[in-house]
Amino acid sequence: PILVLDFGSQYTQLIARKMRENGVYCEIVPYSEPLEAIKARAPKGLILSGGPASVYAKDAYYPDSGVFDLGIPMLGICYGMQLMTQHFGGSVVAASHHEYGKAELTLEGNHILFAETGCGQIVWMSHGDKVEHLPEGFEKIATSANSPYAAIAHEEKQFYAFQFHPEVYHTEQGSRLLKNFAKYICGCESTWNMGSFAKEKIEEIRAKVGSKKVLCGVSGGVDSSVVAALLAEAIGDQLVPVFVDNGLLRANERAQVEAAFKVRLGVELITVDASDIFLERLKGITEPEQKRKIIGETFIEVFEKEAKKHNGIEFLAQGTLYTDVIESVSVKGPSKTIKSHHNVGGLPEWMKFDLIEPLREIFKDEVRILGLELGLPKEMINRHPFPGPGLGIRIMGEVNREDLEILRKADVVMLEELRATGYYEKTWQAFTVLLNVKSVGVMGDNRTYDNTVCVRIVEATDGMTATFAHIPHDILENISRRIINEVDGINRVVYDISSKPPATIEWE
Ligand code: XMP
Repeated sequence: PILVLDFGSQYTQLIARKMRENGVYCEIVPYSEPLEAIKARAPKGLILSGGPASVYAKDAYYPDSGVFDLGIPMLGICYGMQLMTQHFGGSVVAASHHEYGKAELTLEGNHILFAETGCGQIVWMSHGDKVEHLPEGFEKIATSANSPYAAIAHEEKQFYAFQFHPEVYHTEQGSRLLKNFAKYICGCESTWNMGSFAKEKIEEIRAKVGSKKVLCGVSGGVDSSVVAALLAEAIGDQLVPVFVDNGLLRANERAQVEAAFKVRLGVELITVDASDIFLERLKGITEPEQKRKIIGETFIEVFEKEAKKHNGIEFLAQGTLYTDVIESVSVKGPSKTIKSHHNVGGLPEWMKFDLIEPLREIFKDEVRILGLELGLPKEMINRHPFPGPGLGIRIMGEVNREDLEILRKADVVMLEELRATGYYEKTWQAFTVLLNVKSVGVMGDNRTYDNTVCVRIVEATDGMTATFAHIPHDILENISRRIINEVDGINRVVYDISSKPPATIEWE
């Protein structure tokens, strides 16, 4: 693959995506990845991402300096360019003008990196530091009005760097520039697709598992279903698929998931009813991260208990996605923890399983393509995402059975209206949140003082960013009227009109 070392830029994941869209497999690892682990992946090229730090600051992030001696091609982007410059003895300083936004490139000569792109192409800059002096052996291959070193090259080492961000949408030819690096410099063919990804992962799983067994936590959602399908293909009946009823599921979910697996995948699920334990432990807990940790830990406990009933289970398979990883893991990289997605940040240290997470590097929309590739039915693939901690993070404050029932009823009504109007398919995610905010209403001739439900419907492509969905007002009106009429304990419905960022999709 092409390997991206992540220095914490918000755009890092886009580099990998653009590469994969070009048919070149690409993975992201934290900047601090040990040299041996990098070598073990046998990358054909390395990309150093952008990042929020300054290379000359005390808290700068440095990779193992051995990465510069691996003898493989390298592309530095923004911070990555400055790192490369500094490492080889050039100088980086604070720019007198910060440069954010569009810039026009002037090419110096005809470098192969710019093949099939033109002079005057628009690129996107976002930097406060700049390269002042080039290190020995480097030359400029493009300039812009504000950046005399917009792109640089060291031909002998096959080291290249861009001051601009080729991975963002506003860099017109960015995808082509990344492809040129992969194709002409690293010698990668554009042969990769989700089919080859499936084959690779199946081989990897077989090699890792050997004759042992794998417990796969299944939720009925897209991710874990795709993981289960991959495992079924890879190891057949060494797969032990377990569905945990944690008491935080939506209405009828358990029956639906059991049926879907049996009928569509021919896989018999082991269902464990652990709702009492989960709800008992959540009593009195109101802090969102604490709820997430408790739910995550209890899942593992239930899995370990179940595993003891079968011989030879050493692995736990989960549908962890790149989105879960990037938002949960701050220890490994300079990005901040936003929330502990339960299948990543919530894993307890005492866990004995080895993890199998075949979807760790890819995004939801890519998982859907993979699922279709594996022959999963469309209705399974197109289900909206549902978070591991379930309704537990959709009830603000303490979780209890009465509130769960109220929320389930509201959720059913909202989904019915959305499906009936075709908006379920048109949106990324739609759900209701119980706000734990009481307000005064009037029903018939009586005063009410009841709870509020928030309807949250968003559009997104990978869940990293999202906008609230512009649902026609008459549909919202129906949802609101029906929830208030049909769900006891609710006298007010509000619609969430925040986008991510700065909000997140879930409320906790
Ligand atoms: P946020 O709320 O972080 O959510 O904007 C982004 C996407 O991830 C889902 N989500 C989770 N999925 N375990 C999961 O498997 C979790 O703990 C978790 N938390 C959030 C969320 O529903 C949205 O699609």
